[in-house]
Amino acid sequence: MDNPAELLALAVSVARSASDLANRMRAEGVDAVATKSTATDVVTAADRAVEQLVRDELHKSRPGDAVLGEEYGGGQDQTAVRWILDPIDGTVNYLYDLPQYAVSLAAEVDGVVVAGVVRNAATGREWTATRGGGAFCGPRRLRASTETDLGQALVGTGFGYAAERRRHQARVLGGLIGHIRDIRRLGAASIDLCLVAEGTLDAYYEKGLNPWDHAAGGLVAAEAGALVTGLDGNPPGLDMVVAAPPSLHQPLHDLLSKLDAAGGP
Ligand code: IPD
Repeated sequence: MDNPAELLALAVSVARSASDLANRMRAEGVDAVATKSTATDVVTAADRAVEQLVRDELHKSRPGDAVLGEEYGGGQDQTAVRWILDPIDGTVNYLYDLPQYAVSLAAEVDGVVVAGVVRNAATGREWTATRGGGAFCGPRRLRASTETDLGQALVGTGFGYAAERRRHQARVLGGLIGHIRDIRRLGAASIDLCLVAEGTLDAYYEKGLNPWDHAAGGLVAAEAGALVTGLDGNPPGLDMVVAAPPSLHQPLHDLLSKLDAAGGP
């Protein structure tokens, strides 16, 4: 069965086991075991072990599905259902024991994300959504912020790992910060998107996100009434993800576009 509610139920159960494993490994102490794109883009043994656990669990229940994961890639097979996984989003927070890291798991059917869960492993907060079925934190239905004035908006963002990209992102932020209430950089994109869903952040944007960073959280934000887009008519993706309620989306989008936020390295 490929219906969103059933896919979500499986995603939630797997994300809970995955969070438990991340927490057990965190309690035993964490070291970076390798670096990826740059010296500060780390991977821990837990990132790999959690991804393996999720792959094994999904395979047990649904052996025919493809899985795209941050650590082991994959997901190229032509299957109706594809899972998109970030085993630990917020790896640097995990390394430093800052309680802001999550298992993010989404299910796509025919290329469309229909179900997603983001579970903050450190706190146990869990956000879920199904396409057309709304967004929830536990049993609570979520609605994005009702703020209408960009000047009053608390905006989340994040930075990539490469120095050149970070410089570009800092320049964009320099142009934005005089037009908003303030900025937050919490360190896990999937959670940032869920905070937009619940109105804890008014808006969020970031350049350089991969599908595993925004697939589940993007659905949660959209189902809470936020617009989740790229810039200038593009879908959300590597160049840009902007998530904001309709009243803030246009002015934030236009400012980011003017600042060439999707450009640069
Ligand atoms: C990162 C986090 C961070 C964001 C980066 C992501 P990772 O994911 O979501 O908040 O700013 O762009 O790469 O590496 O911790 O899985």
